[in-house]
Amino acid sequence: MTRCSADLISHHALPWLLVLLLAVNNALPQPSEYQTYIIHMDHSQKPSSFSTHESWHRSTLKSLSSFPAGDEEMLLYSYSHAMHGFSARLTPSQLAELEKNPAHRATYQESFGKLFTTRTTKFLGLKRSSGIWPTASYGKDVIIGIIDTGVWPESESFSDKGMSPVPERWKGECENGTAFSHSDCNKKLIGARSFSKGFLAAGRKVSSKYDFDSARDFAGHGTHTSSTAAGNHVPGASHFGYARGTARGVAPGAHIAMYKVLWATDTKEAAATDVLAGMDQAIADGVDIMSLSLGFTQTPYFKDVIAIASLSAIEKGIVVICAAGNDELPNTTYNGAPWIMTVGAGTIDRSFVATMNLGNGLTVEGTSYFPESVYITNAPLYYGKGNLSKAICNSSALDPQEAVGKIVLCDYSTNVDTFEQMDEVQRAGAYAGIFLTGTLSLDREDYSSPSLVLQTNSGTSVRKYVTRDNNATVQSMRFVITKLNTKPAPQVAYFSSRGPDPISPGVLKPDILAPGMDVLAAVVPNRPVTETDMYNLVTDYALNSGTSMAAPHVAGVAALLKAVHHDWSPAAIRSAMMTTASTIDNTNTILKDQWTGLPATPLDFGAGHINPNKAMEPGLIYDMDLQDYIDFLCGLGYSKKQMRAIIRQNQWSCSQNPTNLNYPSFVAIFPRGGRSLTGKNFSRAVTNVGDDISVYRAVLAVPTGMRIRAEPSTLTFTSKHQKQSFVVNVEIDKNAPTINYGYLKWIDQHNHISGEPEIPNSQKQDID
Ligand SMILES: *[C@@H]1O[C@H](CO)[C@@H](O)[C@H](O)[C@H]1NC(C)=O
Ligand SMILES: *[C@@H]1O[C@H](CO)[C@@H](O)[C@H](O)[C@H]1NC(C)=O
Ligand SMILES: *[C@@H]1O[C@H](CO)[C@@H](O)[C@H](O)[C@H]1NC(C)=O
Ligand SMILES: *[C@@H]1O[C@H](CO)[C@@H](O)[C@H](O)[C@H]1NC(C)=O
Ligand SMILES: *[C@@H]1O[C@H](CO)[C@@H](O)[C@H](O)[C@H]1NC(C)=O
Ligand SMILES: *[C@@H]1O[C@H](CO)[C@@H](O)[C@H](O)[C@H]1NC(C)=O
Repeated sequence: MTRCSADLISHHALPWLLVLLLAVNNALPQPSEYQTYIIHMDHSQKPSSFSTHESWHRSTLKSLSSFPAGDEEMLLYSYSHAMHGFSARLTPSQLAELEKNPAHRATYQESFGKLFTTRTTKFLGLKRSSGIWPTASYGKDVIIGIIDTGVWPESESFSDKGMSPVPERWKGECENGTAFSHSDCNKKLIGARSFSKGFLAAGRKVSSKYDFDSARDFAGHGTHTSSTAAGNHVPGASHFGYARGTARGVAPGAHIAMYKVLWATDTKEAAATDVLAGMDQAIADGVDIMSLSLGFTQTPYFKDVIAIASLSAIEKGIVVICAAGNDELPNTTYNGAPWIMTVGAGTIDRSFVATMNLGNGLTVEGTSYFPESVYITNAPLYYGKGNLSKAICNSSALDPQEAVGKIVLCDYSTNVDTFEQMDEVQRAGAYAGIFLTGTLSLDREDYSSPSLVLQTNSGTSVRKYVTRDNNATVQSMRFVITKLNTKPAPQVAYFSSRGPDPISPGVLKPDILAPGMDVLAAVVPNRPVTETDMYNLVTDYALNSGTSMAAPHVAGVAALLKAVHHDWSPAAIRSAMMTTASTIDNTNTILKDQWTGLPATPLDFGAGHINPNKAMEPGLIYDMDLQDYIDFLCGLGYSKKQMRAIIRQNQWSCSQNPTNLNYPSFVAIFPRGGRSLTGKNFSRAVTNVGDDISVYRAVLAVPTGMRIRAEPSTLTFTSKHQKQSFVVNVEIDKNAPTINYGYLKWIDQHNHISGEPEIPNSQKQDID
């Protein structure tokens, strides 16, 4: 069973060091004289006369000239876990003064980040009878910290029925605030805090119209992500009848702590100072896992607060999981530092449909999220044939006298959005609309009237019928149908950000794929999810899509792994998930891209789709500790000052061979053209976490135009925790494709050679 695989990518592109020169500075200058800065300080220089770092920070600020007397508000936060330093409102001259202080290490200007906005546990193969769920006691005693928009504590997902006591090591708090009291926490939701000083300092307001001044969720995002990671079992949950079933988190036995850093105004934004404060507090409180479904514009690591705080967290054994972003395109991954687990989004084997029987006996099925179980019978079918505007149902094109009381078919056109067509069909008084489309991106909330969306090719039969038969009818039309076991699944969700990583293309990102399409989880119950003609619809549980939804699935799996293997490092936990991930879908072919329908690549899915049961027994792991990451950073050519900013130490040593990060995937980038043959040697070390005595042999999938060897090709272990090193030698022909992929698997003596990775979806699951 123990199998270990990793991806090999070669990539003819510019040398990667060049990429580092293209740093993006996303800091936005503020009009006022005062601006918010994060000041990184060297804590070893704190005079012993100060009992706390905070008192030193305050005194440092007070010593600045023209410091307004008594203005305590200038200091926003003191940081001592995720970073050493503080954030404050400063004038340019005060900043210049502060930067002359010998203890000053770095300055970061405030910036703003954005959100990356059932059945998924079954799809992941999680079952009560066997596998990682019972073995991990569902994640018992593990604490997952969620950095997000807050939480709705009354949601049934946060009930503490059956939960183990709050771990004694827990130092967190349940903060009182607007519509939130100490008693809103329990054995499931063990902590809730909010961080808004940076947001307020930037001139934004927490208005009761848009948000609660407390850890209470307004936007619903944090409630969704935290219940996805570790929500309790809630039977009978659904999105207006779609996806009905038991809603539960991936680690229903784990505890949740919410750190609200994201505030809703007319937009949703997170200030870097607040995110850093949330992460700092989560480390201090004692979380085991941290999950972030948000990100800032990609910048080099020494400027990236999430990267800096994550490295501190990793150093303390905390696993950091981040969403990869929803930018769809290559070279758009966020949160790609090699110590972070970066998660892309996949689809699951479920779809939401409406069906229709036509007068000629044809049955057609299309996508629909229309939230009511309307049943339409015997209605005439209408199509504006011979008139382009009517056929595409663009604004004001339909004649209500022709369309009223009918079901209207609308052609696909790049000139008109499907939701505009839906409005037009509604305006004309039609019963329902059938919309042909060539795209995928229609949101659930756009289904404000009975609508069925068909891909253009499957819609031609409907058009043929209505064009030829003057009395075409729809015999019946039904909504709110959830289809399971759809194929192919998983696919790479069309919106998921793709590698190579813009900051470090030499590290394969995203790392892994997890469910992120139409995920059902808890939301705030008092905000409309869908607005129809007549009324707004609210719900306790709703479908959401995004890498935001994928990251908490991985956080849940990390909690399960932590419960089984207390001694595994964050890198070991990630390695176990990556080397057991599946690159095959439920049709037994390589994962496809939802957007193109074509085979996807490791630049889309990383190591593949997560497989929690297999991750429990990876056989071998690619382990790493802080020194490995320091060596990696040494290889980036950062200045001493930049190095200090990220590793928070004054002294460090760099190894001889800084480019060989012991990562569970391999990327080689070669200059275009050049010599006829180019090569690279990767040194790696794997640790045996399986049987004491085991023998592994390397099995390679080598694409054309490449030669790959593993040396040695057999690894013999005589005890658990033993390490063995090997070198992977890759050589590329001049005529090899621009981007080429190969795979390396280590297979043990039990020889489960089949080479067919287990399919993540299994239809033979326990019923519960
Ligand atoms: C809790 O917060 C609310 C609203 O901010 C306030 O009215 C109340 O007095 C606070 N209670 C405690 C015990 O601090
Ligand atoms: C409707 O579509 C037609 C044909 O594509 C186009 O010429 C016209 O400008 C459109 N009208 C509106 C209001 O968008
Ligand atoms: C198509 O329909 C529109 C809107 O009903 C109308 O204004 C236009 O004259 C029609 N065009 C043709 C060619 O019939
Ligand atoms: C279509 O329906 C109308 C009215 O019901 C009827 O008069 C006509 O004969 C029908 N035409 C065809 C081709 O069935
Ligand atoms: C990747 O994205 C970064 C910015 O995010 C840009 O500077 C760089 O040129 C891009 N690289 C490629 C190969 O497109
Ligand atoms: C890789 O290692 C082999 C064996 O030590 C050596 O012959 C080869 O030159 C190395 N290739 C590169 C690109 O360093």
